[in-house]
Amino acid sequence: MSVTDARITVRDLDMRYGERVIQRDLNFTVRAGEIFVIMGGSGCGKSTLLRHLIGLVHPAQSGALWSSLTLAENVGLPLGEYTRLTAAEIAELVSLKLALVGLAGFEEFYPSEISGGMRKRAGLARAMALDPDILFFDEPSAGLDPISSKLLDDLILELRDSLGATVVIVTHELASIFAIAGNCVFLDAETKTMIATGNPRDLLEHSADPKVRRFLTRGESDGGTQHG
Ligand SMILES: Nc1ncnc2c1ncn2[C@@H]1O[C@H](COP(=O)(O)OP(=O)(O)O)[C@@H](O)[C@H]1O
Ligand SMILES: [Mg+2]
Repeated sequence: MSVTDARITVRDLDMRYGERVIQRDLNFTVRAGEIFVIMGGSGCGKSTLLRHLIGLVHPAQSGALWSSLTLAENVGLPLGEYTRLTAAEIAELVSLKLALVGLAGFEEFYPSEISGGMRKRAGLARAMALDPDILFFDEPSAGLDPISSKLLDDLILELRDSLGATVVIVTHELASIFAIAGNCVFLDAETKTMIATGNPRDLLEHSADPKVRRFLTRGESDGGTQHG
């Protein structure tokens, strides 16, 4: 892969709130079509970094659903706002997006009528309504059971493969990291800078940094339930 594949290039980025430095000297590249994971302990600045990256590209598209709207209305909302498509065209596109995330036939359901995993997928359909070429997720599997979480990972991989989208995702779930990430950056709260970037499997095998190794080898029991 050549440098021309760079989709987001971060050079010497410092992030702060007021006087308080959150992270400094961040340097990494997100390549087109890549699934890029931002990882690190709680409070190290992952969400802050994601917000910086979103600010660099297109207006943020929220995956959050309106509870008073049906799935079709939720997914159709950005299409109604930002395109000149007719209602019939929007309905057709909405059904297509819902089918892509495994929710064909759920057009008229309200978010409260479907499971948590289905809601996440509907949110994904909504985020994809306008065919963005980069998708951003902040801890998408938070609160999901392991099976729904695995389905979401599979879906993200599938979308990357079929749509060629670039995906930037904050997660600390090891199963997800090893299943989907091609590249990552590891933020350290203590030193307030990144201590690794690269393929997580390579880092697991070759990183000499004990913090990186500890993070990538820790038991899933750290996060709650043990799953093998
Ligand atoms: N809007 C904000 N104003 C001031 N401090 C913030 C704000 N958002 C987050 N922080 C602080 O910045 C640090 C990093 O936060 P965050 O990016 O949410 O971390 P993470 O997502 O890795 O858990 C935390 O100490 C948090 O309290
Ligand atoms: Mg966060």
